[in-house]
Amino acid sequence: MIAIGCDHAGVELKKYIISELSKKGFEFEDMGTDGEPCDYPDMAEKVCRKVTEGACERGILICGTGIGMSMAANKIKGIRAALCADSFSTKFTRLHNDANVMCMGARTMGPGLAAELAEIFLTTGFEGGRHQRRIDLITALENK
Ligand code: RB5
Repeated sequence: MIAIGCDHAGVELKKYIISELSKKGFEFEDMGTDGEPCDYPDMAEKVCRKVTEGACERGILICGTGIGMSMAANKIKGIRAALCADSFSTKFTRLHNDANVMCMGARTMGPGLAAELAEIFLTTGFEGGRHQRRIDLITALENK
C-alpha cells in the first residue's frame, strides 16, 4: 500500500498518478486533499505517519514545486524524502538513499513524466551494502 497526498496545487496530478499506476497493480491510500485548499506541512505529516507507522510501504507527496512537501517530510523522524524530477535521481534515491517518500511538483513537470518517475520509485530496491552505513548515519543525525 502506498500513501499519497497533495495540497490544492497537486490534486490533478495526484489523480493522474493514482489512475495510471492502479492499472499496473499498485494500491494507494489517498490522504487528500480532494480539492479544498490545505497547508502542505499538514498533508506531509499525514502521509509520512502512514509510512513511519508501517501502514504504508512508501509515500508520494505532491505540491506546486514539491519543495515545501520535501522540507516538511524530512522533519519527520524516519522519513527520507526525495524531491524527484528526473529518472536518474529517482532511481538512485532508492538504490543509494533508501528514500521512503518521493515529492514532486505539479507546476514543474508534466503528468507523463511524473507517473513514470513514480513507477521507478515504487519498483526500485535499496542496494544496501556500503549505503546502509550512510543511512545509519542519517538516522544518527536525527537522534542528536
Ligand atoms: C501553494 O500555492 C504552493 O506554495 C505549494 O503547493 C508548494 O509549491 C510549496 O512548496
